[in-house]
Amino acid sequence: MAAPGPDGAVVEWSRADVARLGELARLALPGEALLDDDLASVCFDGTWPEADGRSVVLATADGAGAVALTTRPGFSGTEAFVQLLAVHPDRRRAGIGQTLLAAADRWAASCGAHRLRLAGAAPYYLWPGVDTLWVGAAAFARASGFTVDGEAQNMALPAGARAPTPDGVAIRHVLDDGDAEAVRVLVRSQWPHWLAELDRGIEHGCCVGAFDGDGAPGAAALGFCCHSVNRFGWLGPVGTDPEAQGRGIGGALVGAVCRDLQVAGLRSVEVCWIGPEAFYASLGGVRSRTFTLLTRPVGER
Ligand SMILES: CC(C)(COP(=O)(O)OP(=O)(O)OC[C@H]1O[C@@H](n2cnc3c(N)ncnc32)[C@H](O)[C@@H]1OP(=O)(O)O)[C@@H](O)C(=O)NCCC(=O)NCCS
Repeated sequence: MAAPGPDGAVVEWSRADVARLGELARLALPGEALLDDDLASVCFDGTWPEADGRSVVLATADGAGAVALTTRPGFSGTEAFVQLLAVHPDRRRAGIGQTLLAAADRWAASCGAHRLRLAGAAPYYLWPGVDTLWVGAAAFARASGFTVDGEAQNMALPAGARAPTPDGVAIRHVLDDGDAEAVRVLVRSQWPHWLAELDRGIEHGCCVGAFDGDGAPGAAALGFCCHSVNRFGWLGPVGTDPEAQGRGIGGALVGAVCRDLQVAGLRSVEVCWIGPEAFYASLGGVRSRTFTLLTRPVGER
């Protein structure tokens, strides 16, 4: 399982170590309810092949800490992102975080990355950045030379949120190939940067589409909404064709996803990296979390 590492201090974890990573992540971040499935899909299957990306999970030999990394294309070349950094609560302030960061730096440099980011590695990520309530992580990042590069918000939506389906529109789960292709056509034309998340939403059976007319096979897609693409119970991406906006389609789609998640046992749905706040507020959403996006040059320290 644990392959020999790039140096004596760390080893590489493979997908077979996902349960170990899950146990460590849940101990390190007890409020997050991270599932092994979330970690498998983001940390081990979170490479973005279209962008020629690479990913790795590095851990201390005793398993007390781990860091999951991936690369994404930046404006001026490859960048490396920390997907998860976790140290066992009983082993903190002993330099394990720094050891992992040094290994992360070496890995990033070997990928040709010039920046290391503590920020959401869209399309596959666990958080948009570092939660401002994670005081220890923020102090660690400051002490490690990271600087703030932006901010992102999540919102909480009651799982009971619903909105009526507008006339002339059919809302249904995107299950068959024809509906999947119709939604892809819409997303490709309006938000091509969401295609990877959409495909994963469809693959997970977690995509709802809005279709024109009575929704007969072959009908054009007017909108879509996914959930549980990266994190179970997190909502997004969501979009309504600009020409069909203002008819209540977005609200009906979000309501349909909330119904699925309520049936799955959730009382509240997390909307990640919110777009228009007023839209979610109209469905009962409230700001719930603030994240800082942090960065430092590779090899800085
Ligand atoms: C953030 C985290 C990974 C740090 O791991 P760590 O092994 O304790 O870090 P280190 O021992 O290498 O700390 C290096 C320096 O960072 C700073 N630091 C780290 N944790 C700190 C804290 N809780 N308060 C203040 N400063 C802190 C200190 O300057 C520290 O040096 P010092 O101990 O000599 O003063 C760990 O607290 C953790 O697992 N937190 C929960 C998970 C998390 O929030 N991950 C980040 C998002 S993915």
